[in-house]
Amino acid sequence: MKAVELQALKETALREGRAASTPEAIEQVRVAYLGRKGALQDIMRGLKDVDASERPAVGRIANELKTALTELLETRKTELQAGASPSATPRFDYTLPGVWNRIGTRHPVSLIIEETIRIFARMGFTVADGPDIETEYYNFDALNTPAHHPSRDTQDTFWLETGRLLRTQTSPVQIRVMEKQKPPIRIIAPGRCYRRDTTDATHSANFHQIEGLYVHRDVSLADLKGDIAGFARELMGPDVRVRFRPHFFPFTEPSVEYDFSCHVCGGKGCRVCKQSGWIEISGAGMVHPRVLKTVGYDPETVSGYAFGMGVERIAMIKYGIHDIRLLYENDVRFLEQVSV
Ligand code: DAH
Repeated sequence: MKAVELQALKETALREGRAASTPEAIEQVRVAYLGRKGALQDIMRGLKDVDASERPAVGRIANELKTALTELLETRKTELQAGASPSATPRFDYTLPGVWNRIGTRHPVSLIIEETIRIFARMGFTVADGPDIETEYYNFDALNTPAHHPSRDTQDTFWLETGRLLRTQTSPVQIRVMEKQKPPIRIIAPGRCYRRDTTDATHSANFHQIEGLYVHRDVSLADLKGDIAGFARELMGPDVRVRFRPHFFPFTEPSVEYDFSCHVCGGKGCRVCKQSGWIEISGAGMVHPRVLKTVGYDPETVSGYAFGMGVERIAMIKYGIHDIRLLYENDVRFLEQVSV
């Protein structure tokens, strides 16, 4: 017998085995193939006459036939005893644990960015974008940040060999937008920023900011405060308050740092806010007249406010994350806890 013939025989045997629906039929198939005078015995006996090149294959298939058919007939017997219908081949074990369909969750940083976009979109803001690799001009000069300014220090900025840099803030997007558009302008610009910070619980060399810019006639600090406070209430809850503290940024005048009242203790003072009742978010201010002039606007007829926002910082406050590094380790056990 040739290997191909035997293969065909094996398939026939298995088909007959599957079709056997009574104990007698099962026994018939067994005798016909596996019995003492069955087909398999004939084959084994004739093995010595098989062409030497075919012999290993024939032997192998004969063995397969024996094992597979024996197993199949056993299964059929059990099925019949259990009263299963002949066609009920797939069996289902209800005691096994279910197969869990793992679905992903949004990353906390993405959640904050998306939520912020949604809130500002309702106030008429659109999303703007700029490159991560910036020129000195957009990241510093156009933002009224002179050459000797400490933020240009190589300690803070990743300089590239080309003379370009990895943007240290999303503020350069302000310039890129104002260069191309005329007021009124209402944009927010989320994106990655890079600083040569040593990583610890609150610092990362790579983080995200959301920049905001509103330029129009008669924009005032009151607009800034109202809009930031409205945003804070939408994001953190109706009771959150916003506080401005005088500060300095080269590209705004006046400049402020702004805080949200601590959502954990409601402002009374706790560990999260270090007993101060306030949590620092970022900087903001009225766009400096020199910046407006740089992009060809007339500071006498238009004014604007700008603000920055540290995304990781907001995510940490909102979701109670105590270490920024958790946001970058991609441990699903952590990420799953912050799904919305
Ligand atoms: N770019 C500033 C920073 O990274 C944050 C900032 C401050 C952005 C004031 C602004 C602003 O738009 O007006 O620290």
